[in-house]
Parts: sequence; structure tokens; C-alpha cells
Amino acid sequence: MTSTVPVNPAEKTRKMRNRAALIETIGGYMAAHALGLAAELKIADLIHDGVRTSADLAKATGTHEPSLRRMLRLLASVGITTEPEPGEFGLTEVGAQLRSDSPDSLYAFTRMFCHESHFSAWQGLAHSVRTGQSAWDHVFGKNIYAYLADLPELSELFNVAMSQESRISAGQIAAAYDFADVRNVVDIGGGDGTLLSAILGANSHLTGVVFDSPSGVAQASDVLTEAGLADRATVVAGDFFESVPTGGDLYIIKSVFQDWDDGPAKAILRTCRAYLPADATLLIVGSVLPETAASGEPIMFYTDLNMLVNSGGRERTESHFRGLLAETGFAVESVSLKSAGPLSMIEATPV
Ligand SMILES: C[S@@+](CC[C@H](N)C(=O)[O-])C[C@H]1O[C@@H](n2cnc3c(N)ncnc32)[C@H](O)[C@@H]1O
Repeated sequence: MTSTVPVNPAEKTRKMRNRAALIETIGGYMAAHALGLAAELKIADLIHDGVRTSADLAKATGTHEPSLRRMLRLLASVGITTEPEPGEFGLTEVGAQLRSDSPDSLYAFTRMFCHESHFSAWQGLAHSVRTGQSAWDHVFGKNIYAYLADLPELSELFNVAMSQESRISAGQIAAAYDFADVRNVVDIGGGDGTLLSAILGANSHLTGVVFDSPSGVAQASDVLTEAGLADRATVVAGDFFESVPTGGDLYIIKSVFQDWDDGPAKAILRTCRAYLPADATLLIVGSVLPETAASGEPIMFYTDLNMLVNSGGRERTESHFRGLLAETGFAVESVSLKSAGPLSMIEATPV
């Protein structure tokens, strides 16, 4: 004889919801693959601000219509596309960021982070978690920047991806920091010059230098010239493990330390300590992790683990940053958490 346990309907609903939540989390990698392919096929550019049938979209992209439709439905279920009528697809506001022509485009960012190289690197997650080292280096036999330096097209995509991610925060930093007493800003690891453009654009008294590796600065002259800033900005290629430009009074280093574990992060800080004039300020801009995962946006923890996988790097808490700065000869002058949108600013001076 089997005994029947009475089922509490609320309990049943909760269990079903929990099952769905776990399964949807597993499905994250499926959605990421679909998102990456939608970006590669430029589906958002084709839909633009209207609605297109899957038949139209399949014709324009040379894909198999019934299968493309299924992929677009998956993307509708995660809030990227809409399907107002069966087989007709539009974009949500989130999905519209995939358009390559919009001012707040995340097209290159999506292509880069859904690129096969990133998926391959993430297959080495177990290596990273077991050893604390970069899966990217393990999978490809070289670090991400050496890998990009060998592939100019992918390197350009990476630089544009970084600038798309930085475009909004560049304006926030330019607005949040007081540049009144600054004359010459050096942006270390400044990539294509997006941040320097925003700062010089908002402060006509400033001159500036964007400093990065040769492949990192490859697009910087064009970006600064297009912004009409060529006469106030200089582009310098180099290696921040060797030297940084002299002559600045404010040295910004944004979203760079996250790429590196503490050993190389301290090496970069020591280079800065050696080259910064005694009265210069170092301004670290980036995420500052909370002490527990209970507070803090999920994106911080995605980025933190992505840094481990891609470069053996990490996001850091305020106390972690303070420790690195103290060890490398800097005094922390101020910490303003989330003062540039989600990004924080730490001002330090040589001691
Ligand atoms: C995550 S990106 C951040 C770029 C930019 N600061 C931003 O916030 O968009 C890190 C930057 O560090 C640069 N970088 C990596 N290794 C470098 C090195 N050895 N010397 C100078 N720059 C380097 C990369 O080329 C890249 O532009």
C-alpha cells in the first residue's frame, strides 16, 4: 500500500519555480551563443526600428528560415527580440543595443565576448579554478593581449568593444572628476582614446596622452582626430611593465588592474611609482567589489570570473586596492565608490 503525502500547492509552485530558475541559468550559455550569432548576422541592423519576418531575415542572412525563427524565439524569451505576430520579429530596448549604428551600440562588445575564442577560453574554467591561473593562456598558449596582437582584425574588434563599454563611463568620469587644477592627463592602458576624448572634450584647458601597447593604441589617433582633439592629444605606444610617459600631473588607469593578478598589478604600480612626477596623482577607475556577494550587481561577479578565465586577473575590494597601493609606494588620498556610474575612483599619490 502506498501512502499519499498531501501536496501543498504553494510548495509545489515554489519547487517548479526553483527548477525553472536553475534550468534557465544553465540555458545562459545557449542564449549567449544565440546572441553572438544574432550579432554576427547583424539581425538587429536588419530589423532596425521596425519588424521583419523570419523569412525576410533568413533571406538577407542566407540562413535556414525555420531554424533562424527558433533562434529568434529563444532570444525573445530572454528579452532581446519581440515576436508581436507569429514569425515577425522586432527588438526590445535591450536588443536594440545590438545595432551596429546606434550611439549606445554594444555590437562589437557582444561580438567580442561571444566570440569563439572566449567560448574556448571558458571551456578551460576548471583549469582556472583548480590552479588560479588564466584558462586563456592554458588553452591558447599565450596571454590574451599577445593573442590579439597576432590578429589585427580581432584586436580592432576588442578595442572597439572596450570603447563601447567605456563610452558611457567616459562621460561619467569626465563629469564626476574635478579637472580644474589638472594640466596634462595621461591615460595608461587607454586603448583607442575614448576616455581621453571625453575628458579633453569636456575640459578645453587640458592636454593629454593616451598610452597603450602598439595594438592597443592602433585606432587612437583616428578616434582623437575625429573628435577634433589631435592638437591637444598625443598617442604613445609602449609597455606599462617597462615605463609610462613622464610629464603628466594626472595619471588615469581605468579597467586595467582587473586584467592582472596581484604580482603583475604590483609591477604596473611600481612602474607608475618610478615614472610619475612626485606631485602627480594616480586615479584608478574601475569596479570595486563589495566584501560579500550579497551586495553588488551580478555583472561585477561575471567580470571577476571572466578576468580569471581570460587573463588570470581579478576584480578587487577597496581593502585589496589599499594593500596593493601601500605595498608599491602610494598613499590613498580618496575613495569614491560608484562615483562614475557603476565605477569607483581611487586617488593615490606617490609617498
Ligand atoms: C580592459 S582594457 C581597458 C581599456 C580602457 N582603459 C578602457 O577602460 O576601455 C586594458 C588595456 O590594457 C592594455 N594593455 C595590456 N597590456 C599592456 C601593456 N603591457 N602595456 C600597455 N598597455 C597594455 C590593453 O591593450 C587594453 O587597451
